[in-house]
Amino acid sequence: MRTPLVIGNWKMHGTLAEARALASAVRDGLRRPRGVEPVLCPPFTALAAVAEILGNGPIRLGAQNCHDEPSGAHTGEISAAMLVDLGARYVLLGHSERRREMGESDAQINRKVRAALVHGLTPVLCVGETGEERRQGLTFTTVEGQLRAGLADVPADGPAKIVFAYEPVWAIGTGVQATPTQAAEVHGYLRGLLSELTSKEAAQAIRILYGGSVNADNADGLFAEPEVDGALVGGASLNPQAFITIVRKAARAGAAARGE
Ligand code: PGA
Repeated sequence: MRTPLVIGNWKMHGTLAEARALASAVRDGLRRPRGVEPVLCPPFTALAAVAEILGNGPIRLGAQNCHDEPSGAHTGEISAAMLVDLGARYVLLGHSERRREMGESDAQINRKVRAALVHGLTPVLCVGETGEERRQGLTFTTVEGQLRAGLADVPADGPAKIVFAYEPVWAIGTGVQATPTQAAEVHGYLRGLLSELTSKEAAQAIRILYGGSVNADNADGLFAEPEVDGALVGGASLNPQAFITIVRKAARAGAAARGE
């Protein structure tokens, strides 16, 4: 059984004081989350402060990006090793905003995935088609290309240590969520590819999250899909109550799937 994972991606939002308040509110609202793993990904500037607030509690810390080298002359960059040193367990890689705004290539994302794995940081590898690609019937081709390239030269046991996120670009920050059926269809396709690349058993244990306009109102429908193992939440994660509700809904859906 896969434990649902709900990740809050705060993106480039918040002063240190705002980050502290948000992390504290989420921590206080989720004292004993059961059957779900919540993760917060604040901006780099707030990682240390949020790490302190989360302490050794059940909510994990994640970062929004990393460099592929452990150290060196890379002005403005932050390595996977540095994130681990701060207490981060997860790192978002291949987010469509970075692919688009920073021109991150599949090859670069793949180097980051491998670097994160080397340092024991769990990559959250994001894939997703644009609206135009979907209209042209290229959804599967696009996500397959991104997934295969992202996993190039990853050790055989690597995919099992990675979380995947299906994030249709047209659904991110637009208020237009993929329907649960659309999400399940792509998740099933990705899991099929992962079976091919690893084994059926290994692929069954890998978590595939959905991201794109997830909020407290539309989360139930998504989590009811057995292929959806949680969510990567942007905008709604800036509201502690909304994020807490989404986490609770993921936990409830997981419990229902286990017949509890
Ligand atoms: P959104 O962002 O929830 O604001 O659509 C999701 C994401 O970019 O991860």
